[in-house]
Amino acid sequence: MADFQRLIMEWYRLNKRELPWRTTVDPYFIWLSEIILQQTRVAQGLEYYLKFTNNYPTVFDLASASETDVLNDWQGLGYYSRARNLHATAKIIAFDLKGRFPDSFDQIKSLKGVGDYTAAAISSFAFDLPYSVVDGNVYRVLSRFLDIDLPIDSSIGKKYFAKIAQEFLPINDFAIYNQSIMEFGALQCVPINPPCDICVLTNLCLARLNKTIALRPVKTKKVKVRNRFFHFMIFKDNDKIILVKRIQKDIWQHLFHFPLIETEFETGIDVMCSIFQDDFGLKPYDFSSKITHILSHQKINAVFYFFDTLPPNLSNDFIVTKTTAIQDFPLPRLIDRFLENNDI
Ligand code: ADE
Repeated sequence: MADFQRLIMEWYRLNKRELPWRTTVDPYFIWLSEIILQQTRVAQGLEYYLKFTNNYPTVFDLASASETDVLNDWQGLGYYSRARNLHATAKIIAFDLKGRFPDSFDQIKSLKGVGDYTAAAISSFAFDLPYSVVDGNVYRVLSRFLDIDLPIDSSIGKKYFAKIAQEFLPINDFAIYNQSIMEFGALQCVPINPPCDICVLTNLCLARLNKTIALRPVKTKKVKVRNRFFHFMIFKDNDKIILVKRIQKDIWQHLFHFPLIETEFETGIDVMCSIFQDDFGLKPYDFSSKITHILSHQKINAVFYFFDTLPPNLSNDFIVTKTTAIQDFPLPRLIDRFLENNDI
């Protein structure tokens, strides 16, 4: 164990990437970076980290911003519940806790959007508390080093890895150790074809010895992908266009998009035209080809229909705006992509 810790910390010193959240112990910046990096690659997260620390240099700036501004700055990162939680938590820290960031693991974990991993990351990086991080990188490194075949997505596996990870913590340098094991997983012990011949752990790694590297870590479940069929209606009259704000509690809550009909199955243009006729008394003059947008658990199949007038009866949730103002609204990435490729 002592060799493992020493070797990966030495490897980290020589190979680490210079990342801005690694040169601060300010819990606000570390919390920002960890929320941004959940489900996001470092290269993409970095751009957003720089934007957020620049636009909101203190927790008070973030707390005082409007939700629309925060969602706009988040645009493109996806998983918007992270941005809503970020904003709600900033308000609690700024106004209820008077700007003092919680400094114990349990208090940190009670913040919205913070689970075991993020609480351990903030506790160790900002306060150097002895909590081990367990993310996908850590699962991979430990499952290979010890050749563990327990599935990492089973509750028994999760408990077991959490226990092992905690036992592997050194007696001090918790922050550097945690950064080291994650970075080692991200750069050296990569999922596919890791370069084991140049690995500092190669002589100690049990999966290497047992030729099971490619089988670790073990996962039981396959992610089920749900197919969804979205029909967006672009009602446009000269420079006027209609948007709606999504209120349903789902991935796009509080974002804006064109009025939408969702169908349970793939639905052809003729059927959609009769639905448009019944609902709005209108017929589209054109429609796009199918655009697919893949999320971790959903595949969205979208078609955009073009109308050259606004519906005669405007529904209460329709927002009439100028076409030139669309980009001022926080939009799902799918809509943003569509606008990049189509003149509205
Ligand atoms: N991913 C999540 N947290 C990270 C961190 N602190 N450094 C690098 N990648 C990360």
